[in-house]
Amino acid sequence: MAAKILDGKSLAAEVRGSLKSAVASLADRGARPGLAAILVGEDPASRIYVRNKARACEEAGVRSEIHELPQGAPERSLLERIAALNADRAVHGILVQLPLPRQIDAQRVLAAVSPAKDVDGFHAQNLGALLQGSPGFVPGTPAGVMRLLDHAGVRVAGARAVILGRSTIVGKPLALLLLQNDATVTICHSRTRELASLAREADILVAATGRPKLVTANMVKPGACVVDIGIHRAPDGRIVGDVDFGPVSEVAGSITPVPGGVGPMTIAMLIANTVRAAELSNAQPAA
Ligand code: GUN
Repeated sequence: MAAKILDGKSLAAEVRGSLKSAVASLADRGARPGLAAILVGEDPASRIYVRNKARACEEAGVRSEIHELPQGAPERSLLERIAALNADRAVHGILVQLPLPRQIDAQRVLAAVSPAKDVDGFHAQNLGALLQGSPGFVPGTPAGVMRLLDHAGVRVAGARAVILGRSTIVGKPLALLLLQNDATVTICHSRTRELASLAREADILVAATGRPKLVTANMVKPGACVVDIGIHRAPDGRIVGDVDFGPVSEVAGSITPVPGGVGPMTIAMLIANTVRAAELSNAQPAA
């Protein structure tokens, strides 16, 4: 196996460790960062994600609360819950776990979260700030990818980056971050023609397709850095990503594993955003 493994698990632990002094200095002022996660419905993967986020928060000294609403909850109840959390001074970050059930308009819901508590970075104000190059809260997955690349010494400036996937959570914000760091960025999607040959041009190839093992070794330039955002349970019960890890790691120069790559970084960046939200709110005079 030739590729260097980009170990997100240990870097995430380092990031969480580096937040300790900020949490301690807030504690000295009688403040504790607090994250409220809202989970609507029964999606088993979402339940696991939310529980993992809450557990990681507690380990970092961040208070967490999980608000559960039933699968059939009307949009109004979710908006009311968000309004209450916006007004709650003990809550510094609000996260609405996606996807939401069909009856709920995700755009309206995300717009209802106070931008100052939008630690997922999904509010139009935070996404707009990112587009303008002066980011407020940056979504956790793209921020985590940039941190991993930086830590591994992957050269971004001048690199050709190809992102497979155009979601608002990963593909689009990551394209902006790579562009701000002077990469030449191509975003591919389900209607892209000649995907494999575009992918093969990438110095940095990011797979965020939602399709298990879509990226095969013939789609990767020798020596490229391959970042896998996907997480799926294979029929044999194993966890796999969007990248066919074994064969691709024979070709790539560096690669993120699944699990233990981007996933833990997403959570670490969410906690970092929550601590920052608490610091910013603590710096404000009481209303
Ligand atoms: N669903 C998939 N990824 C995410 C994420 O980063 N945040 C939230 N809130 N929901 C998600």
